[in-house]
Amino acid sequence: MDIRTYSLCALMLVINEVSSQSVIVEAAQGDAVILPCSSSRYEKYVFWRYRDTKPVYDIIEGKENFHDQDGEYRGRVKGFPSEFTKWNYSITLSDVKLSDSGTYSCNLPDSRTVHVELEVKDESDSSHRTSPDNSSIMRKAGSTSSLVISVLLCIFVF
Ligand SMILES: *[C@@H]1O[C@H](CO)[C@@H](O)[C@H](O)[C@H]1NC(C)=O
Ligand SMILES: *[C@@H]1O[C@H](CO)[C@@H](O)[C@H](O)[C@H]1NC(C)=O
Repeated sequence: MDIRTYSLCALMLVINEVSSQSVIVEAAQGDAVILPCSSSRYEKYVFWRYRDTKPVYDIIEGKENFHDQDGEYRGRVKGFPSEFTKWNYSITLSDVKLSDSGTYSCNLPDSRTVHVELEVKDESDSSHRTSPDNSSIMRKAGSTSSLVISVLLCIFVF
């Protein structure tokens, strides 16, 4: 492989890696949703941010810390301290509003940042609501198959 091919393959793998770490969560107004974030190790510091700036939830020295939390999230965000030792830093956002839509980042300074895209459906759009539909749906953006395809392309085509 020449250097250009190699760079292209590396780039495709990076894109796959990034997209496979982005999770989409769907909710209706008023719902409580889990925004998932887990690590492959114990983290003492975790910083949840909305649109990369607004503080949503912090873990500092292994403890929940609400000191910097934006007023918007006051009383609506819950972490799971008993899960910290299981490397699970997911949070629950309750009483979801339309204005909560957007990207949440779970920043693990010592390893990586997990992005969660929250899509809040308009309650008034009742035509799309069937009765069990008020539970939130979670799906992974980016699929394993696209990763497999890129790897195969890199191995066999170039
Ligand atoms: C993290 O903890 C929450 C709350 O107990 C749970 O709902 C969720 O499934 C856990 N996530 C993982 C990856 O274990
Ligand atoms: C879903 O909606 C039904 C009726 O609209 C309600 O009875 C039920 O409690 C809701 N479930 C949740 C998890 O909000």
